[in-house]
Amino acid sequence: MPHDFMPGLAGVPAAKSAISDVDGQRGVLEYRGIRVEELCLRSSYLETAYLLLFGHLPTQPQLARWHEDIVHHRRIKFKIVDLLKCLPEQGHPMDALQAAVAALGMFYPGRNVQDVDNNYWSAVRLVAKLPTIVAAWARLRHGNEYIPPRDDLGFSENFLYMLTETEPLPLWSDIFDDCLILHAEHTMNASTFTGMVTASTLADPYTVVASSIGALKGPLHGGANEEVVQMLKEIGDPGRARSYLEEQVRAKQRLMGFGHRVYKVKDPRATILQGLCERLFKECGNSPLYEVAVEVERVAEELLKGKGIYPNVDFYSGIVYDKMGIETDLFTPLFALARVSGWLAHWLEQLRENKLFRPDQIYSGEHNRSYVPIEQR
Ligand code: CMC
Repeated sequence: MPHDFMPGLAGVPAAKSAISDVDGQRGVLEYRGIRVEELCLRSSYLETAYLLLFGHLPTQPQLARWHEDIVHHRRIKFKIVDLLKCLPEQGHPMDALQAAVAALGMFYPGRNVQDVDNNYWSAVRLVAKLPTIVAAWARLRHGNEYIPPRDDLGFSENFLYMLTETEPLPLWSDIFDDCLILHAEHTMNASTFTGMVTASTLADPYTVVASSIGALKGPLHGGANEEVVQMLKEIGDPGRARSYLEEQVRAKQRLMGFGHRVYKVKDPRATILQGLCERLFKECGNSPLYEVAVEVERVAEELLKGKGIYPNVDFYSGIVYDKMGIETDLFTPLFALARVSGWLAHWLEQLRENKLFRPDQIYSGEHNRSYVPIEQR
């Protein structure tokens, strides 16, 4: 049966899912029916990850066990550390993360994805170990020692500690944890879909997550947060925002951190992240990048409003990380270590009623051509 071709599968449902929902007209994002604003206010990243994976908020004993399992599996094997040490230090952290996650699967070779118990432990390992890998790479590439996780620290606190060997201010862990909640899940985005295609072949979850990491890296997806901060630094001063943007629009260049396939209003995550910036600055002083960003948003609204293009999640997240002293090329890995819970939730959902993804194509080539011998071409 012929179908209309939809470039980028825009508007084509690829799955039935009960994990999250976006109302792009009203700017509402819910995880398992709960709005992200409420989760940021009342939940933690680990509890939210549980909600996404298992479909309900945990009871106290369930949360305690989940926390304990994650803490127990945060360490990475010395061979993974050695593998990271062998990678070129100027390489992108997303490539290092992808390589290490693919390699993880070789250490935990349970291949039967019908085994519920095995799947639980794979999810625990991936949620627990991604932060350790990212922090390890961040240090090893500069010739610093790997800092193992500390069992007495919470999820976000421990990650920030592993980066610097210093316990972060409680406000920083709080704000960072909210950032992870906001990046944990977002319906049928490119990296989630990539993971689901891989999952539909019944590949193991390490391969699923490694393929999602590859898709997240691109500048049209998670890679945009890195480019936003570079753009803001290039603009340098709020007074230069208008001329910069006008030039971009004239040259038909895309503004990084703006626009979304689904949102036709400001991304609710961008609004929350803006609030987090302001909370952070109250305690730690302003960031010149933020002033530039606010002006860029104001001018962009004027120039691009007609097209329904507003800031997305990547616009303000980098400013928070930058203020915390995190290197720019680590921003997308931070996105990945949060989004892994969403990827895994979709993996588990996909397995419940799996059907191999094998879409159709509309052939636009020729038929019945003859082979021309090389000396006659
Ligand atoms: N700046 C300027 N113009 C834009 C932008 C932008 N950021 N985004 C879309 N447009 C224009 C585009 O040029 C096109 O104009 P015209 O109709 O005149 O040719 C129109 O809007 C529709 O664009 P599209 O490419 O068909 O829309 P899409 O739904 O495929 O785009 C997007 C979605 C995210 C790829 C795009 O908005 C974009 O490239 N944004 C910049 C990269 C970015 O910030 N990515 C992060 C996305 S959110 C988080 C995540 O998924 O990781």
